[in-house]
Amino acid sequence: SHFLHHNRNVTASLSRMFGTKLLNLQPCIVIQRASMFLSLDNNVITFKEEGVWNYSTMLIREDLGLLVLGAREAVYALDINNISVAKSKVLWKVTEEKQKECTSKGKHPDIDCRNYVRMLHQMNGSVMYMCGTNAFSPTCDYMLKLEGKQEDGRGKCPFDPFQRSASVMADQDLYSASSLNFLGSEPVILRTSPISLRTVFKSSWLNEPNFVYMDVVPESEDSPEGDDDKVYMFFSENAVEYDFYNKLVVSRVARVCKGDMGGQRTLQRKWTSFLKARLDCSVPEPSLPYIIQDVFQVRHKKWRKSVFYAVFTSQSSTDRSSTVCAYDVTDISKVFSRGKFKTEVTVEMSDVKWVTYNGELPVPRPGACINNAARSSGIMQSLDIPDKTLQFIRDRPLMDDAVRPITGKPLLLKRGPLLTRLVVDHVTVSDRESYHVMFVGTENGYVQKAVNYDGEMHIIEEVKLFQNAEPIEVLRLHQNQVLVCFVQLYAGSASGVVQMPVSNCSRYSSCLDCVLARDPYCAWDVPAQRCSRLPTSADDGKSNLIQSLKDGDATRCPTIGF
Ligand SMILES: *[C@@H]1O[C@H](CO)[C@@H](O)[C@H](O)[C@H]1NC(C)=O
Ligand SMILES: *[C@@H]1O[C@H](CO)[C@@H](O)[C@H](O)[C@H]1NC(C)=O
Repeated sequence: SHFLHHNRNVTASLSRMFGTKLLNLQPCIVIQRASMFLSLDNNVITFKEEGVWNYSTMLIREDLGLLVLGAREAVYALDINNISVAKSKVLWKVTEEKQKECTSKGKHPDIDCRNYVRMLHQMNGSVMYMCGTNAFSPTCDYMLKLEGKQEDGRGKCPFDPFQRSASVMADQDLYSASSLNFLGSEPVILRTSPISLRTVFKSSWLNEPNFVYMDVVPESEDSPEGDDDKVYMFFSENAVEYDFYNKLVVSRVARVCKGDMGGQRTLQRKWTSFLKARLDCSVPEPSLPYIIQDVFQVRHKKWRKSVFYAVFTSQSSTDRSSTVCAYDVTDISKVFSRGKFKTEVTVEMSDVKWVTYNGELPVPRPGACINNAARSSGIMQSLDIPDKTLQFIRDRPLMDDAVRPITGKPLLLKRGPLLTRLVVDHVTVSDRESYHVMFVGTENGYVQKAVNYDGEMHIIEEVKLFQNAEPIEVLRLHQNQVLVCFVQLYAGSASGVVQMPVSNCSRYSSCLDCVLARDPYCAWDVPAQRCSRLPTSADDGKSNLIQSLKDGDATRCPTIGF
């Protein structure tokens, strides 16, 4: 319980170090000074510990200045500005008894029957909630008092450490997508709250899913219809809607309403608002659908402008290629709120087929959140929804339309080592234009940095983060609240964790190199004669800075600069 007390003052001590005036200065001047103090000088910082593996879970605690890291049988609290400094460590081992029980069911003692920490969430105050696989017996606990109050982790954390899961904490309620049983054959999307809800066990709801991501969109804000907030989940699963000789995997986005309380008779303690749609990211040539691997939400103050970026990989074992697509939140939302449904029909004797439902829809619309229209007809909560609407959604949660990416096609198509995870930064450059910069992990230990120039993504840099060619399992971005330009990328793999700044402008020693790098974080500062991190003090109009992101045009570079 000592664990989190040491580091409460990182931000405070930085403020002391630089004085309170620092907030009034140009942000990146502070950075240049700060980085001397923090002696990060653009190098990659590594954290690994002898005998500890599988660093696959991360939680950023801005308030405590910590990167909380979940690994196999251990949780670390690392200094967020320098992860080589471990402030604290808590072991969370399986008991001998649990391990024996797991081994007796045919699982490998050292691979399967260990505790892989797979979920870390911040509760209110400084309490954290975490879950581990615990030798195929998922268990959750509260950090700060990591003893005693152990809770059942089924449906929150997978049994199998090789199985993916997803979760999000919203207003102290945990939304999780995982499996309820040892075999992993009972997938579930669960809300653990005073009124707990779950999905229905039907293949039309979830069909051997692989969950990758979950997040909240505050759609009640500024909503003329009096709509509710939504929780979106992304996964792949076996398609029910195609005639195919073999199993065909498709990518999905699904959503539920935050205010859902389940139905009264039909769908009791089940989601009444679960809707799902196919997520499309098709490449120009004919191929099987690509499979979703990871998602990142670029949040905007106005939720309608938020964007989901997703990385996909080819379903064919002979084709090693990956794609990235981006989706407008409003496009996804429209498919659910206005789109047609699919319905099952029996053809011939026993065969079923999924076709467009063209009949009349019950009122209120199946799967809709409780909004002003529903309230004005006396439906104040999901418990009041009539059976007809509930029966419709119980049998038909799948939308007819697929969700299409923003530009209608992938932003990036990449051959070679598969892409595994992604995070996206929103960068405002000197001319007040802004760009999305994406960091994508690969299956062989690299991170690719790519920029979205008007719907086309270009890889501008590639960094090898891990010596072994091991997959990047988790990526996080963190922007220091005091030092605005101090944006760091954290990456975890089986063997360790690394931290690096999102840019290294000083590496470009000439104007030509600086401009041709086409890096939104960097511009050539003419008076200072160096490649500077933006925004800089020279950022008074554009005259003193040279940057050409779209065209890579270096003709403005002074000749001496070469
Ligand atoms: C934290 O959550 C608990 C339970 O939901 C609540 O009783 C308490 O008031 C909350 N504390 C803070 C500081 O928000
Ligand atoms: C954990 O790390 C080991 C060592 O690199 C690796 O072989 C294994 O596949 C990892 N396990 C999981 C569940 O990722």
